[in-house]
Amino acid sequence: MRGVILAGGRGTRLGDTTRVVNKHLLPVYDRPMIYYPIATLRAMGCTDILIVTGGEQVGGFAQLLGSGFTYRVQEQPDGIAGALALAEGYVDGVFPVVLGDNYFSAAPGMPTGATIYTHATDRPQAFGIYDPHANVIIEKPKDPASDLAVTGLYVYDAQVFDVIRKLTPSARGELEITDVNNTYLWDSRMAVRQIPGVWSDMGTPDSLLTAALHAKETAHAA
Ligand code: TTP
Repeated sequence: MRGVILAGGRGTRLGDTTRVVNKHLLPVYDRPMIYYPIATLRAMGCTDILIVTGGEQVGGFAQLLGSGFTYRVQEQPDGIAGALALAEGYVDGVFPVVLGDNYFSAAPGMPTGATIYTHATDRPQAFGIYDPHANVIIEKPKDPASDLAVTGLYVYDAQVFDVIRKLTPSARGELEITDVNNTYLWDSRMAVRQIPGVWSDMGTPDSLLTAALHAKETAHAA
């Protein structure tokens, strides 16, 4: 099975640490960040992985990971859905996508159709939050309908590329993955599952530290 890691973006929230180095090459305890999403996709059954990243950054990934991966270049960081659009023609059928800065302690089994994965959060104002009654995701809600954050692990089918083609950029000028997911949810074409274990994004100094501390505990337990 083929899977996709989205590892472009700007990494502005990590300040000067990502001015020269791509966020996904930063250390998370004893390994580069990108190793974690690779492990997630492998645990779901992926044997082939596409890494989408910014043009000036492909060299670092190739140097680290070698030729066992496929690389595609996102010319501008025009959003997560913009990065995903570049997977067209690489993937086939139902496929998993993971954001390069998402840390999971456990991976789910591969589902048969489009699926998003939620995890409880104590900071709902910081994430896309799934409202189970209205079956919709609200980005960074002021008045959250639940504590279910939508994580950066998604499973799509080939129709996702048609959905992305119909998107218009958001107020911040990006093609939003939440708009993709809300289209699927609206059409009742997407399952919503809670993912067990630990989840953290690694996009801020604090969340990066949380993930690193968990990685350290796990490494010591192994
Ligand atoms: P974000 O954390 O939303 O954006 P960012 O990585 O640019 O960081 P910041 O907000 O601090 O500037 O991105 C989440 C993941 O999605 C990240 O691992 C990289 C990926 N991504 C892309 O591949 N292309 C993009 O255009 C964007 C915005 C993100």
